[in-house]
Amino acid sequence: MLRKKSKPVKEISNEIKDIINKMIQTMKAYNGIGLAANQLGYMYRIITINTADKPIVIINPRVTKKQGSILAEEGCLSLPGLYLKIKRANFIIVEGYDQNFKNIKLQATNLISRAIQHEIDHLNGVLFIDRLPILKRIKIYLQLRKEWKKLK
Ligand code: CO
Repeated sequence: MLRKKSKPVKEISNEIKDIINKMIQTMKAYNGIGLAANQLGYMYRIITINTADKPIVIINPRVTKKQGSILAEEGCLSLPGLYLKIKRANFIIVEGYDQNFKNIKLQATNLISRAIQHEIDHLNGVLFIDRLPILKRIKIYLQLRKEWKKLK
């Protein structure tokens, strides 16, 4: 499910509301900065971002502007224990819908911007390790394959 592309949300149903609630609860329980619905097995384009005050919910998110580039350490709830330096745009504008299906347009920098880009990648089946430079990526894939074999 982490490698599949998620589907756009067409309307706010009870199912979608439940998914959003579960995402926020899970994100908080694991102290994550963000979460994508497919990380919980729901193939919808929904992301949640943890902030100091209220969690941000973005449905069908799309980045409409990117600026600058910054290298910083990143982790993922789906790949526990792995922290790697990943290059991302520093400033972004993201558009989509909130949990009431109202249009939203947000500006973000630094950590929030990074989290939004990371979670949107999830919706497209992309993991943060895919954003590594090629040699580093091969090294990590081999390491992960070894660990996954151990688990089987
Ligand atoms: Co992640």
